[in-house]
Amino acid sequence: MSTARTQVGIIGSGPSGLLLAQLLERAGIDSVVLERRSRDYVLGRVRAGVIEQGAVAILREAGVAERLEREGLKHHGVEIAVGEQRYRIDFAAQAASLTVYGQTELTKDLMDAREASGGLPRFEVEEVVLEDVATARPRLRYRQDGAAHVLDCDFIAGCDGFHGVSRAAIPADVLTTHERVYPFGWLGVLADVPPVSSELIYLSHERGFALCSMRSAARSRCYLQCDLDTEVSAWSDERFWDELEARLPTELAAHLTRGPTLEKSIAPLRSFVAEPLRYGRLFLAGDAAHIVPPTGAKGLNLAVRDVQQLAAAFVTHYREKRDTLLDGYSATALRRIWRAERFSAWLTSVLHRFPGRTSFDRRMQIAELDQLVSSSAARAAFVEAYTGSQA
Ligand code: FAD
Ligand code: DHB
Repeated sequence: MSTARTQVGIIGSGPSGLLLAQLLERAGIDSVVLERRSRDYVLGRVRAGVIEQGAVAILREAGVAERLEREGLKHHGVEIAVGEQRYRIDFAAQAASLTVYGQTELTKDLMDAREASGGLPRFEVEEVVLEDVATARPRLRYRQDGAAHVLDCDFIAGCDGFHGVSRAAIPADVLTTHERVYPFGWLGVLADVPPVSSELIYLSHERGFALCSMRSAARSRCYLQCDLDTEVSAWSDERFWDELEARLPTELAAHLTRGPTLEKSIAPLRSFVAEPLRYGRLFLAGDAAHIVPPTGAKGLNLAVRDVQQLAAAFVTHYREKRDTLLDGYSATALRRIWRAERFSAWLTSVLHRFPGRTSFDRRMQIAELDQLVSSSAARAAFVEAYTGSQA
């Protein structure tokens, strides 16, 4: 059995874990990232695509925004379609913008930066166990290539996503969880066809929600609300494009280019928050701590902000020997997280078709969206929440 030591032991090499390691390294703090999957698997996952300006600033500070700022698509507005009606919400009044850049690309940039500094995660580790997290000497045990390893840490960061092991290391009488599971999922595809429009379009349609997003002027990323019991194999490319076309306003449907899909997957929708985010020397960040339904494009942005806050707290601990930021991490992060939960749950509720909904429920959704596009105050509040331009 081998024993090693690090300042911060990080579980998970998604955006949270990789970015935390990167920010810590730039502040001279040592960390080790443990990842249960292979490098190729982590780099192959297709997920989010919308990055807030505040998150871009954090990525710049981490030294990983160069390609994002060169290749990312800057958006200054978003479209909402309700049946045949199209509305554009402009971000200009708030001087806000969003960058469309795939999480896959961001993960690659982070991984390249970790490799350049000799800090690549340990991939394909198994049976990660957290020990003594309530003491000043927490430790991680794991297996790699059949051998047992021990990693002594000052702190442990649980960045291992919703299905990870860290959250469960907080005793049940300390941890409270809040959850809403939605009765539908999103079927997402990636295809090398030009997007139907130059901006994102969120569609509220009688047949269900749809979203037309993109990765570049030549690559589309589109989603359809789907039943939870449907399978990817039931969706040929033809069926996907037919259904998307049926949910698009006629004038946009005319611009839809079909093509073979490069990826097709179904994601369930969930709202979830764990409280508190700290137990002893264990800190949770990203999807390990909270899940938002993807409608508001907040999941990745929340993860980036959690990790920035956590890195700053570790820096203050090591440089100034003060723990005020570590002590305040959970409460400060949770306020921001709950605001994003509220926005994501609200946008999900007004755009999707819920089973058993009445004609009154549908009219309420339409009235809510009408209020959003007609009132300058409502639009301003939307832009603030959607672009994350709120302080
Ligand atoms: P993750 O990216 O989940 O990374 C966690 C890492 O920990 C993984 O690499 C995992 O393999 C590793 N891990 C887990 N358990 C262990 C263990 N026991 N030991 C070691 N390592 C472990 N957000 C949007 O805004 N828009 C979207 O369209 C969107 N689509 C999504 C689709 C799917 C299928 C999923 C799962 C999420 C989606 N999200 C989306 C959310 C967004 O991708 C996440 O918020 C983001 O990935 C969070 O990053 P993270 O690093 O906290 O967690
Ligand atoms: C994308 C995903 C989202 O969940 C969203 O709200 C907007 C865009 C995307 O993958 O491009």
